[in-house]
Amino acid sequence: MSLDINQHEILLQIRHLNKNFGGLQAISDVTLDLPAGIITTLVGPNGAGKTTLFNLITGHLIPSSGTVHWLGQSLKGIEPWKIARMGIARTFQDLRLFSQMTVEENIMTVMERSAWLWQGGRASALQRVGEILAETQLADKRHERAVDLAYAERKFLSLARIMASKAKLWLLDEPASGLDPRSFERFVGLLRNYAARGITICIIEHNLDIVIKLSDRVAFLDQGKLLAQGSSQDILKDPHLAAIYFGDRS
Ligand SMILES: Nc1ncnc2c1ncn2[C@@H]1O[C@H](COP(=O)(O)OP(=O)(O)OP(=O)(O)O)[C@@H](O)[C@H]1O
Ligand SMILES: [Mg+2]
Repeated sequence: MSLDINQHEILLQIRHLNKNFGGLQAISDVTLDLPAGIITTLVGPNGAGKTTLFNLITGHLIPSSGTVHWLGQSLKGIEPWKIARMGIARTFQDLRLFSQMTVEENIMTVMERSAWLWQGGRASALQRVGEILAETQLADKRHERAVDLAYAERKFLSLARIMASKAKLWLLDEPASGLDPRSFERFVGLLRNYAARGITICIIEHNLDIVIKLSDRVAFLDQGKLLAQGSSQDILKDPHLAAIYFGDRS
């Protein structure tokens, strides 16, 4: 069954976006929509510009030219923390947890930042932390410091923080890299669950198994250019894209 993305409201609209670092064009004339309720996967070889695209959306980098609109509003010149408050949350490739804080404290900091959304106050925030800990299976690690967690647990904590944010759009930068197969299944289930509850997800992922299991739509970037977008089957079976992805450009 093909997916008609035109039926979905466009949350994020990217038009002719460019980003140069000196002589390097890291993002080149990218035009892309992120429709509500759709899981979009960004794939492409190392250095394709995937993280740069996230940084341009979230205000961590300023575009050389082009536009990004969120719910019809231009994000030009808006600081990252304000963009986060507008409903766009992200994870980082290097996780950026508060390593000396406990699991619970790492989650609570997100809630304090978006305290205006937690009208029920601290009691309801704590109840929500409990739910998130259960969903990410971190309940028995609640009082451990982030630095003492296993790798997969740190990945889930990064996800737990985004779950606490109440954002509408999640931008996830390689959230599943290095997960063992069991954690990986749990991770896919968790994201599917949140997507079914109305969260829109854009995920950067190298693991093609996850790309196939998770994506409603795949966008393929190479050398800053959006080469193709479509269903995971269409994109992954394209021999030209496969050659680029697996490093054979001949
Ligand atoms: N702040 C920066 N200053 C200069 N060059 C940068 C900067 N950020 C990224 N680049 C360069 O831009 C290009 C795209 O980098 P980016 O990190 O977006 O790639 P990526 O697709 O996320 O790769 P990976 O899969 O390895 O994470 C690379 O050549 C990178 O070296
Ligand atoms: Mg990257």
